[in-house]
Amino acid sequence: MSLLELKDVSLGYDSQIVVENLNFKVNKGDYLCIVGENGSGKTTLMKTLLKLTPPLAGVIIRDDDLKKGEIGYLPQQTLVQKDFPASVKEIVLSGCQGGKKFKPFYTKEDKKNAEKNMKRMDILDLQNECYKDLSGGQKQRVLLARALCATKSILLLDEPVSGLDPMVTMGMYELIAKLNKEGLTVIMISHDISASVKYASHILHISKKIFFGTKEEYIQSDIGKFFLMSEGGKENA
Ligand SMILES: Nc1ncnc2c1ncn2[C@@H]1O[C@H](COP(=O)(O)OP(=O)(O)OP(=O)(O)O)[C@@H](O)[C@H]1O
Ligand SMILES: [Mg+2]
Repeated sequence: MSLLELKDVSLGYDSQIVVENLNFKVNKGDYLCIVGENGSGKTTLMKTLLKLTPPLAGVIIRDDDLKKGEIGYLPQQTLVQKDFPASVKEIVLSGCQGGKKFKPFYTKEDKKNAEKNMKRMDILDLQNECYKDLSGGQKQRVLLARALCATKSILLLDEPVSGLDPMVTMGMYELIAKLNKEGLTVIMISHDISASVKYASHILHISKKIFFGTKEEYIQSDIGKFFLMSEGGKENA
């Protein structure tokens, strides 16, 4: 069974439709990149998958882990999050709240889990630092460690490399690819089509016409060829 399946889903707010007739499936171990221009509805799709926004039409089928709220989420950065006045450890631990009801304290298990994920993201030595004083790349690794505390199965990442320099971006992509190889299913929103094609197994391109398929199918498609060529042109300009 798929981890997640969308059938004829429409997304939006109140009666304002943003995306119509979305159909795609995510299987365990997939790495799906979602691309599309600003305002096309990528974040709205993630919010719908997280049940923060109800779909306007269609059906979303989730497997049992997802039903239990086993989802790690790295939200698109906002200015408020950038200046969040808490320590690294507190932010990572807050991922242990997961889909559960609010807990006023953390268990020993939660603390072990937070430490394990800080080690994994190589930020253990930053644990007592204030989040707002970190560099952009360090902040993203903290948020990734936080997302990992919430899940063993699926990660939703909304533009995890935005604002990062090319070297740090590369490091972040490699880290995410490693997590995927270790068995985590990844759904990532990105504006970088070349990197999406390099790392992903599947691509969802939200535009007037929606494309969903394997990355090999995307590379051969008209929309894929068009966008890959314009990105190549930018790099060579
Ligand atoms: N809470 C909201 N209420 C009403 N409309 C919203 C809300 N959030 C987003 N929208 C609208 O929905 C549309 C899609 O927004 P969304 O944030 O999903 O785009 P996006 O593809 O993630 O864009 P970007 O690449 O800029 O992050 C936009 O027209 C936006 O104005
Ligand atoms: Mg967005």
